[in-house]
Amino acid sequence: MEFINPSIVPQRTLFNGDKMPAIGMGTFGSDRFTAEQVSAAVAGAIRCGYRLFDCAACYGNEDQIGEVFKGAFDEGVVERKELHIMTKVWNDMHERVEESCKKSIVDLQCDYIDTLFIHWPFPNYHAPHCDVDSRNPDSKPFSVEEFVNTYRQIEKLVEEGLVKYIGISNMTIPKLEAVLPELHIHPSVCEMELHPCFQQQELFDYLVAHEIQPIGFMPIGSPQRPERDMMPEDVADIQTPEMRAIAEAHGVHPAVIAIKWAAQRGQIPIPFSVHENEYVSNLKCITEDPLTEEEMASIATLEKNNRLVKGQVFLWEGADDWHDLWDEDGVIVE
Ligand SMILES: NC(=O)c1ccc[n+]([C@@H]2O[C@H](COP(=O)([O-])OP(=O)(O)OC[C@H]3O[C@@H](n4cnc5c(N)ncnc54)[C@H](OP(=O)(O)O)[C@@H]3O)[C@@H](O)[C@H]2O)c1
Repeated sequence: MEFINPSIVPQRTLFNGDKMPAIGMGTFGSDRFTAEQVSAAVAGAIRCGYRLFDCAACYGNEDQIGEVFKGAFDEGVVERKELHIMTKVWNDMHERVEESCKKSIVDLQCDYIDTLFIHWPFPNYHAPHCDVDSRNPDSKPFSVEEFVNTYRQIEKLVEEGLVKYIGISNMTIPKLEAVLPELHIHPSVCEMELHPCFQQQELFDYLVAHEIQPIGFMPIGSPQRPERDMMPEDVADIQTPEMRAIAEAHGVHPAVIAIKWAAQRGQIPIPFSVHENEYVSNLKCITEDPLTEEEMASIATLEKNNRLVKGQVFLWEGADDWHDLWDEDGVIVE
């Protein structure tokens, strides 16, 4: 297997001066890949030079990934301190963050978490694999108080040394405006959907201005996303003529162009793949053959406001539709 020396992989500087890798590997199997397939890919990814992994309690594979981490530590492939391990508190654990974090630490066999996220800014729970039209009668609109209460629990874990950095995810500018003044420890990163046809420029700029590093999920436009997240009107980013033409010019797959674009724009992409040739290319591509200014400008024109993860299952009774989750009029929808 090809090894890309982590010392040549670019890094991003966080608000406090600490660094983290400019690319990571996603670990959500999209209901299509088993925990064994995903963890085998993580094992390969460590050996090819990945040092950042995006895990989550709700992906249902942390114990298998933990076995892989332990194997890599025991074999001396990598030391714990060389990895940046991220995981997330799922919606049904907002009141029990410490329990969630400790379970992830045990499952991932990693002693501490580098970045712990609040996965969604609502405690609204839905059963795994449920239909997009299903609603939980207990679901509620966003609450600043509830969010800050959850965040405080992570701040305590930072003080205790179980967590190094705090992450937020699936946020909007109005929600950030409301919560940022209340937080004692600055969030270091924000995970958000980012791909050529969904660039979220305003939120991206807001985060950069507030020294919160954007992390882009679904960087390739998630061609294998679960059926429930596929809509007839969705645009396939990597099939657009622009992406194909740029890929041809560089002699690579358009997915690789999406990763190069993400890294050059400044977000940390966290592409997923179980295929060795793909995950190796995804890491290697940000160390060589950058896109030209013209190519970056061409991809900038692909913005189509094509949000793929709409979040319908988190809606509360009385909400109109999924747009209510994203505060599109600049105020928090309640
Ligand atoms: N915070 C959140 O709420 C949230 C939400 C969604 C996702 N995420 C995170 O973001 C990660 C990435 O998102 P994702 O997995 O949905 O989408 P993605 O990374 O955009 O797409 C993954 C798919 O792209 C294809 N691919 C990857 N590399 C390729 C290459 N070099 N050439 C050709 N095809 C390639 C693979 O398809 P084939 O298998 O067909 O080759 C793979 O299944 C997740 O794993 C998860 O960690 C977070």
